[in-house]
Amino acid sequence: MHDRAGARTAHRNLPHMTRSHELATAELADFLRDARRRVDEALDRFLPPTDDPKAPCPPRLAEAMRYSLLGGGKRLRPILALMAAEACGADPVEALPAACAVEMVHTYSLIHDDLPAMDDDDLRRGRPTCHKAFDEATAILAGDGLLTLAFEVIVRYTRPPDAAANCVRILAEAAGPEGMVGGQMADLHAEGRTDGTVAALEAIHRRKTGALLCAPLRMGAAVAGAAEWQVKALDDYGRAVGLAFQIIDDLLDVQGDEAKLGKRVQKDSDLGKWTYPGFLGIEGSRLKARQLADEALAALGPFGDRGGRLKALAWDLLERDR
Ligand code: IPE
Ligand code: IPE
Ligand code: MG
Ligand code: MG
Ligand code: MG
Repeated sequence: MHDRAGARTAHRNLPHMTRSHELATAELADFLRDARRRVDEALDRFLPPTDDPKAPCPPRLAEAMRYSLLGGGKRLRPILALMAAEACGADPVEALPAACAVEMVHTYSLIHDDLPAMDDDDLRRGRPTCHKAFDEATAILAGDGLLTLAFEVIVRYTRPPDAAANCVRILAEAAGPEGMVGGQMADLHAEGRTDGTVAALEAIHRRKTGALLCAPLRMGAAVAGAAEWQVKALDDYGRAVGLAFQIIDDLLDVQGDEAKLGKRVQKDSDLGKWTYPGFLGIEGSRLKARQLADEALAALGPFGDRGGRLKALAWDLLERDR
């Protein structure tokens, strides 16, 4: 994510940005730092220990789960959960278990995405991928462990039970066959095919990435007992940000810096992936991402100043270099 001064100059052109949004952007870096610290501490607490010989989770499995989950990452999805809860009038801490749960599911998706049978990557979050640091079977099981632990954490720690049940449904739908898993299947199926269209690519991106960016917003709203208009506004924001986020990911694969990103670049064209730069070019993709960020800001209109942080975040993501 980029520096504050850059953020202030960058969003001058954005019609929905006002002075109050600029102030929100200036506060964003502080909020993100604090939120990441809280999320990292909570994730550490939720994970099984590695140093207790009597613990039921085998130490090697606990080590692999800890290695991937605590090894960096921007923590965007948990941050969205905390911000959504706050925008809907709740204490963001109430959304912390759901926030951690979505990060667990996301990290599992990365571990599996990197496997030789999928994108076959050796670098993630600046370190060897889980299957390189451990082995393939351990990486598969570490992913499975994180996926299932996510739901245990929601049910154990989210209050009231109604909100927990809602969060389970939201996360299961977003992660499952009609969401992330379905998108990943479609992404693999499209590899190397020449019959792609922008509409088909959009449908892949909305599932493989967009769904898991909408889910934390919905969970934050569920924990806050949000009104329908709030859920609708957050959904519209999440759909726009979710697609923009994967467009930027595609762009970073072409133009990004491996050291900053902590993952390999130029992989998508090597694998014959369908990507936005592949279909629309660099400038066309940038323009599409900017339009989506603008849509995201417009969606938050009904929140007034309460939406300031989410607005600042949408613009920040557009400028990200990692
Ligand atoms: C990478 O997600 C995979 C995508 C869905 C684009 P992030 O860019 O959020 O990865 P981390 O969590 O910061 O490592
Ligand atoms: C990954 O998309 C989406 C999920 C992990 C669900 P990518 O394959 O483009 O993500 P990176 O570029 O490897 O992080
Ligand atoms: Mg992939
Ligand atoms: Mg990948
Ligand atoms: Mg990518």
